[in-house]
Amino acid sequence: MRPVIQTLIIGGTAAYGLDLSPWHPLEDPFQVQTPYGESPVISLLQPEGASSPVAFCSRHGRNALTRSAAFLNHRAIIWAAHRLGVTTIFSWNGVGAIHERLEVDDLMVPSDLIDFTRTRVTTFGRPKLTPAAGPPFHPTARSAIIDAANAQLEKGALPKMTIHPVGVYVCTEGPRLETEAEIELYRRAGAEIVGMTLSPEVFLAQEAGIRYASLCYITNFATGRALGRWPKREFGPKVAQTCLPILLAAANRLND
Ligand code: HPA
Repeated sequence: MRPVIQTLIIGGTAAYGLDLSPWHPLEDPFQVQTPYGESPVISLLQPEGASSPVAFCSRHGRNALTRSAAFLNHRAIIWAAHRLGVTTIFSWNGVGAIHERLEVDDLMVPSDLIDFTRTRVTTFGRPKLTPAAGPPFHPTARSAIIDAANAQLEKGALPKMTIHPVGVYVCTEGPRLETEAEIELYRRAGAEIVGMTLSPEVFLAQEAGIRYASLCYITNFATGRALGRWPKREFGPKVAQTCLPILLAAANRLND
């Protein structure tokens, strides 16, 4: 029998190919069969000092990037979390910076989201249910990430980086990157960062009664938003190596 699993961490940028051995994977990785198809491969991690195991999966593929954001099976991932009895999902997401105060390699824990996707299924589709409105990101789960990130920064476990504790994420459809005019539209609408993965992931989690929070890693400036700065990009292993330990520590805070 599997142990009780309270938390699923969904890895984004650079999660594929991450060596999980420092976090002591417990048993053979597995997939969950769902009405929407197979879930991504899920590993159970038992980091030192953790009170209970944490489930982990890489959204875009296990050993290599096999599915970009526009082609993910969001319902299978969230259904699998529900089947495992998970109560919290943490994810990390690579994003482009729209607001000029943001730099590549900053972190943000978004507090709200604007959904500009067009064709994605954002519900499990129970005909009588109107999913509740309310903050998409769970306040307690967000605080756990912010506190874990600040604690790691203070003890020198992270490179010097800025952690933005609030901000608005806009989700675009992809797979193409946005035009400059689109980014300007989103900026005027109040968006500060842009990505392609959080919708419908967060809404499906909400519908399934699972609290959800995201750690966004700024990987690039959004189209037209370098504003004279060197157009630095960071899509390498550093993204995963920064985000996974923070989210594991956040899980430990919630599960204690
Ligand atoms: N746009 C959309 N999604 C992204 C970006 C971006 O600039 N960077 C990382 N994910």
